[in-house]
Amino acid sequence: MNASAGELTAEPEDFLATKKTVELSSYKVNGTVGDVTVTNPRMRAEQVNVWYGQKHAIKNVNLDIGHNEVLSMIGPSGCGKSTFLRCLNRMNDTIASCKVNGSIKLDGQDIYHRDMDPVALRVRVGMVFQKPNPFPKSIFENVAYGPRIHGLATDKASLAELVESSLKKAGLWDEVKDYLHQPGTGLSGGQQQRLCIARAIAVSPEIILMDEPCSALDPIATAKIEELIDELRENYSIAIVTHSMQQAARVSQRTAYFHLGDLVEVGDTSQIFTSPKHQLTEDYITGRFG
Ligand SMILES: Nc1ncnc2c1ncn2[C@@H]1O[C@H](COP(=O)(O)OP(=O)(O)O)[C@@H](O)[C@H]1O
Ligand SMILES: [Mg+2]
Repeated sequence: MNASAGELTAEPEDFLATKKTVELSSYKVNGTVGDVTVTNPRMRAEQVNVWYGQKHAIKNVNLDIGHNEVLSMIGPSGCGKSTFLRCLNRMNDTIASCKVNGSIKLDGQDIYHRDMDPVALRVRVGMVFQKPNPFPKSIFENVAYGPRIHGLATDKASLAELVESSLKKAGLWDEVKDYLHQPGTGLSGGQQQRLCIARAIAVSPEIILMDEPCSALDPIATAKIEELIDELRENYSIAIVTHSMQQAARVSQRTAYFHLGDLVEVGDTSQIFTSPKHQLTEDYITGRFG
């Protein structure tokens, strides 16, 4: 954004002296390197700051999410990735100490405006969590629940169709079609996560937020979810927090690197992983910290 954004404000010797572990706080960040904007954004965050009481968890972050893209958010633990993700569908509203300011728009509409209903917002901006969390209900009911309470299906047959198409889009239909009335919690971890994705899809969101959706899954289940994310991109925008750089490289088109509440660098995923512009990004992707 500005020419001096990538300049380091600490002594380079700090890095040279300690090859492996570098103090996270030894470098200060002045703005974001790389283009935070896209043309025709689906979502646009501007000057977003988040506090938990006195703790400044997100600092002046600007970031767009485009149509039909997967944006990955990476960075060391505790750097604000989940906090930022939760701002995008106002999940932080439920945390009493949390204060959010700045502007976040969905299709040009301010999601923090007093006229915006957070429940309606979360239909448009769905979320999938780290630990699969199906409702203690049947597979069918897990998917039917949202459309039913939001009045998205007019009769039984159209509800059943919606459940089927959502399970198909989540790549789960063939595995569960004969067990729709069994409890969702009886599925394997990977299947439960795909059930949660089906549940999110069922209400026709525009954006799906995923916070480390594979970290509780084995490699085969992870590969299935990654494949699915790539397919979902055709119809949705996806923002995914991941601690796996390989996963970010595999599934996303753009990558955002967070460091202690700052958005350090944003760019095409291939550029971030092959020629990062900021020293901090380079140190993170080469394993110096994190
Ligand atoms: N509910 C909360 N209350 C107070 N502090 C929090 C809360 N959630 C996160 N934080 C703090 O905000 C910072 C960012 O956390 P988080 O967004 O969870 O980071 P990440 O997802 O990158 O690991 C951390 O210092 C964390 O301790
Ligand atoms: Mg997190």
